Amino acid sequence: MENTENFHVDIPMPRKEVEALNPYSAPLEGRRNMLRLDFNENTIGPSPLVIQALKAIKREEVSIYPEYSGLKQTFAKNLNNQNPNININPSEIGIFNGVDASINAIFHAYGNKNELMLTTSPTFGYYTPCAQMRGMRIISIPYEDIDFKYPFKKICESVVQNNPKILLICNPNNPTGTRLNPEKILEIARLKPKTLVVVDELYEAFTGDSVLPYVNFTKLPNLVVLRSLSKTAGLAGLRIGFAIGQSGVINLINSVTGPYDVNSFAVIAAFAALKDQSYVDAYVKDVLKARNWLKIKLENHNIKHHIDGGNYLLLWPKSGPIETEKALKNSGILVRSMDKKINLKGSLRVSIGNIAQMKRFWSAFELIDKIN
Ligand SMILES: Cc1ncc(COP(=O)(O)O)c(C=O)c1O
Repeated sequence: MENTENFHVDIPMPRKEVEALNPYSAPLEGRRNMLRLDFNENTIGPSPLVIQALKAIKREEVSIYPEYSGLKQTFAKNLNNQNPNININPSEIGIFNGVDASINAIFHAYGNKNELMLTTSPTFGYYTPCAQMRGMRIISIPYEDIDFKYPFKKICESVVQNNPKILLICNPNNPTGTRLNPEKILEIARLKPKTLVVVDELYEAFTGDSVLPYVNFTKLPNLVVLRSLSKTAGLAGLRIGFAIGQSGVINLINSVTGPYDVNSFAVIAAFAALKDQSYVDAYVKDVLKARNWLKIKLENHNIKHHIDGGNYLLLWPKSGPIETEKALKNSGILVRSMDKKINLKGSLRVSIGNIAQMKRFWSAFELIDKIN
């Protein structure tokens, strides 16, 4: 008979760093049929062209490995069309299974054990486990003052003194919305050419400040920019994101991923989404309108809140974040408590959708928070 008592000593042991890991965890299940204001997703779905393209997929496409040709060109064209000062070459683009996969690949390609990852706090929760997995040291510098300013001076000092291998800048930052001027990002990137400065621009389309119109990756090869089709284009379920940087750096980051990590459905949807930029632009416009509508409501009712970049805001409900999160869930609305994040005690993060969705949120919130 098998000796179950000693079972655990006989199994292969994972790497020490993996055993000690706090994995990224989020309440991802049971979200269908709710108003989802908890993950900053697109709240209305992708362009009808995306659905049309997906419906037209032939049976054999499922049994053939995916092909990517033309996608980098289409994405480069989409970026370059958005701003006359952006001039990205397709060779400067890498395609990933969501920006999450590009973040993991960056750490895989560059993060050595005991080297330093520098970032801010609170910020997007996946950077830390990616650094921990590689046994990296982590320094997180808090956002400053009641309006969560980017700790520019402290970050510069830390780059100079501590020589981080990777600096992660989320711009605008999730969840504080903090925006950092692109000129400042270039200033940071010029401090130490051996620090890889990664700018996560997931939310830049919603009141953000992209560094892309200002950067020449040939002259600044230690800068990498991340963009995704999850949030604006509404493809979060299909998983596709991009890293943009000097072509050698991008090839290196891509080299640690599998050859077919991005699936055919995501590729077909991406082509359709990138062709219909006007749909994305109209959605962003609606979100910004709704953001203003909600901002006025919060101001008029003296509710403590913080709105800056991105398609989300922070607010401090009177009845506390946990109770309010629960009560909203009972009304079919999902939001995220930020109670455990540094400097965000008592707060909720609410994603912004269109006006009708924000009106629904407000009606429920008004009752729960006893606003009169
Ligand atoms: C700042 C930030 N970066 C990256 C991601 C992940 O994006 P993707 O869906 O492309 O993996 C998220 C998702 O919430 C995010 O908020």
